[in-house]
Amino acid sequence: MSRTSFESSKSRRTYASTPDHRPLARRKRIIVAMTGATGAVLGIKVLEALRRMNVETHLIVSKWADATIKYETDYAPATVRELADFAYTANNLAAPVSSGSFHTDGMIVVPCSMKSLAGIRTGYCSDLIARAADVILKERRKLVMVVRETPLSDIHLENMLSLTRSGAIMFPPVPAFYTRPDSVDDIIQQSVGRMLDMFDLDTGDFERWRNETEVRLVAMDGVDGTGTRA
Ligand SMILES: Cc1cc2nc3c(=O)[nH]c(=O)nc-3n(C[C@H](O)[C@H](O)[C@H](O)COP(=O)(O)O)c2cc1C
Repeated sequence: MSRTSFESSKSRRTYASTPDHRPLARRKRIIVAMTGATGAVLGIKVLEALRRMNVETHLIVSKWADATIKYETDYAPATVRELADFAYTANNLAAPVSSGSFHTDGMIVVPCSMKSLAGIRTGYCSDLIARAADVILKERRKLVMVVRETPLSDIHLENMLSLTRSGAIMFPPVPAFYTRPDSVDDIIQQSVGRMLDMFDLDTGDFERWRNETEVRLVAMDGVDGTGTRA
């Protein structure tokens, strides 16, 4: 049977499709883009979680994400790239993720700067991050954007609204406190878990909301979940 394929120079792994275009079984595949907003650790923890869940990752790191990795974390940019199965520079517009014919299960931009947000919103594909996101949108795949800035201008908000209407998910890294986190690590773990929920991936390592008070009341007094006595 004849097959078409390409090989990654990094891993020499071969991808193939049959002539009748039936896809071969493959691992779930997510594009992870890191840009120069503060919160580099979020991108790193997303990569670590996807690795634990055996998801194939294609990483794109912008020049300013490299800078924030160095400013904000103890990781070297090269170590971050090693967390991914495949890594590309943001100026490599010939990378596989630049084409809709390369199947993926979605893309997360984490963290996402206002510059990258604006580029993606306008469809101005000046780097691989904006191009890969543009492809995700045109192919109607899932795009999660961990947009980070504060406070937000009307320009930022308009860009977010426009992209939301185009099908992207705006996911600002806003912590939840109902879990009573003990540490910043707890907050990061919960945030990353909720981000990956968007892809139906369960990291299984963070607290989810359970109304313990009501659960106890149901057990003791027969109160149902709405607060009404059953
Ligand atoms: C330490 C540091 C933190 C930054 N934090 C943010 C931020 O939270 N949000 C943002 O939109 N830009 C932030 N910036 C500015 C972006 O890095 C800058 O706009 C850059 O051009 C983004 O390019 P990129 O999207 O291609 O990575 C930060 C820059 C530095 C050096």
